[in-house]
Amino acid sequence: MTDIDLAELRQLAIAQLAQSYSPYSNFPVGAAGIADDGRTVVGTNVENASYGLTLCAECSMVSDLVRTGGGRLLAVSTVQGDETPVAPCGRCRQLLFEHGGGGLIVDWDPEPLLLDALIPEAFGPSNLA
Ligand code: THU
Repeated sequence: MTDIDLAELRQLAIAQLAQSYSPYSNFPVGAAGIADDGRTVVGTNVENASYGLTLCAECSMVSDLVRTGGGRLLAVSTVQGDETPVAPCGRCRQLLFEHGGGGLIVDWDPEPLLLDALIPEAFGPSNLA
């Protein structure tokens, strides 16, 4: 689908599992993305005693994207504790759409997916233009 090294991206996501703050669910999640300038960004889930305030791994990865200069996401990998891809939750699909659009490559097995398949007919920035 692309010459982006998704296996390498997945390894970056796996490395983030060790940083997870998930004492309530014991479900660590790691995320990694590649931006259109070639830099990589990472994130992990950060839970809260007020459960609904939990930040997903994709959320902290998007914060890392913006914090380190912005740009568009080209590909992302999100993994759970057994180091296999985990499907982004609904809110995170919307977050990823904002920063990568429907063409964003999502690491998946056996083949990568496009975000369009995970959030078809998405509401996004163009709706507000
Ligand atoms: N989680 C993520 O980090 N990303 C997702 O897309 C799915 C869910 C986290 C949130 C919570 O800390 C844990 O997984 C269990 O729901």
